[in-house]
Amino acid sequence: MKIEEYKRYTDGYKEQIDAELKKILGELNYSAEFKEVLEYALFPSGKRLRPILMLEWHNLFAPADYYALRYACGLEILHTYSLIHDDMPCMDNDDYRRGKLTVHKKYGEGTALLAGDALLDLAYRILSMPTPSFEVGPFWMFKELCGDMGLIQGQYCDLYGKIDNLNDLLDMCRHKTGALIKLACISGYALGNNLDYKKCNAIMGAQPGGTKDSADVSSDVSNDGLLLNYVLASGFGEAFGAAFQLYDDISEYIDGEKISSTSVMNYVDLDEAKKMLNTLLGDAADTLEPLSGDTTYLRELLNRFIIV
Ligand code: IPE
Ligand code: IPE
Ligand code: MG
Ligand code: MG
Repeated sequence: MKIEEYKRYTDGYKEQIDAELKKILGELNYSAEFKEVLEYALFPSGKRLRPILMLEWHNLFAPADYYALRYACGLEILHTYSLIHDDMPCMDNDDYRRGKLTVHKKYGEGTALLAGDALLDLAYRILSMPTPSFEVGPFWMFKELCGDMGLIQGQYCDLYGKIDNLNDLLDMCRHKTGALIKLACISGYALGNNLDYKKCNAIMGAQPGGTKDSADVSSDVSNDGLLLNYVLASGFGEAFGAAFQLYDDISEYIDGEKISSTSVMNYVDLDEAKKMLNTLLGDAADTLEPLSGDTTYLRELLNRFIIV
C-alpha cells in the first residue's frame, strides 16, 4: 500500500470518527462551558488509533455500521479521559499534550478531574449500549479488558508498582496501554462477526487459561474458524498493544524528551529496545497471516511503528 493511499484511508476513518464525536458532544446536556472543555480534550484529534483499529477489525469481516462507529467513539472517549488524568500533577504532571496545553493547565485541576470523570462515564454509557442484535455492548462482553482490570491497574503500577525487571515492565505496558488496544481489536472482530455476549463467552471460555481444558482448546481452535479468528484478533491486540507503548517510550528517548522512571529505556539500551519493538510488531503481523480478508491496511499500520 502506497503511503498516500494509507493516509487517505486513515483520514477517511478520522473524518467519520470526528463527525460522530461531534454528534455525541452535541447530544450532551452539559453547560456550554463544560462542553467546551470536553471539546478541547477531544479536538483536534490525535491518531484516533483505537477507534480505527476497532473499525478496521470490524470491516475485515463485515462493513462497520452505526453501532460500530458509536462504539469506536466510546473507545476514543475512554482513551481521552485516561490522557486527561494521566497528565495531571498527581500523575505525570505534563503541561502539553498534542502540542497544546493539557486540560488542567488550560482549565484548572478541578475541571480536568471532572472532565475525565465525565468522559469515563460517557464512554461506558456508549460501550454498554445495546443494539438490535445484541443485548449488551462491548463493555459487558469484555469487562476484564476495560478500566479497573486493565488500564487503571497498569496506571497504578506505573505510578506506585514494583517493577524489578523487564517482564514486570512489559506486564505494566500490557495493562496501561495494551488492554484498550486489545479491546479495540477483539471488540471490532466480535461485532463484525455478530458474536453476542453468549457466543463471546463461549469463545473466551475456550481460550488458554479459560474454562475448557487445553486439549479441547487446541481442537476447538483448529476446527472452529470463529475461535481461530478470535485468537488472531486477540494476539494482534496483545502484541501491538505492548509494541505501541514501547514505541512511545523509544520515540520520547530519541526526541530527547523527559524519560519517565517506567520507560523501557531505563531497562535496556536503544538497540535492544528497538529489537523488542520490532519483534512485537512482527508477532502482530504474523497473526494476520491466516486471515482470509484484506489485511493490507493493518500491515501498513504496523509498518508505521517500526523504528530502524
Ligand atoms: C498516548 O496515546 C498514550 C499512550 C498510551 C502511550 P496515543 O499516542 O494514541 O495518543 P493520541 O490519541 O494519538 O494523541
Ligand atoms: C499513558 O502512558 C497511558 C495512559 C494514559 C493509560 P504514558 O504516560 O506513558 O503516555 P504519554 O507519554 O503521557 O502519552
Ligand atoms: Mg503515564
Ligand atoms: Mg504520561
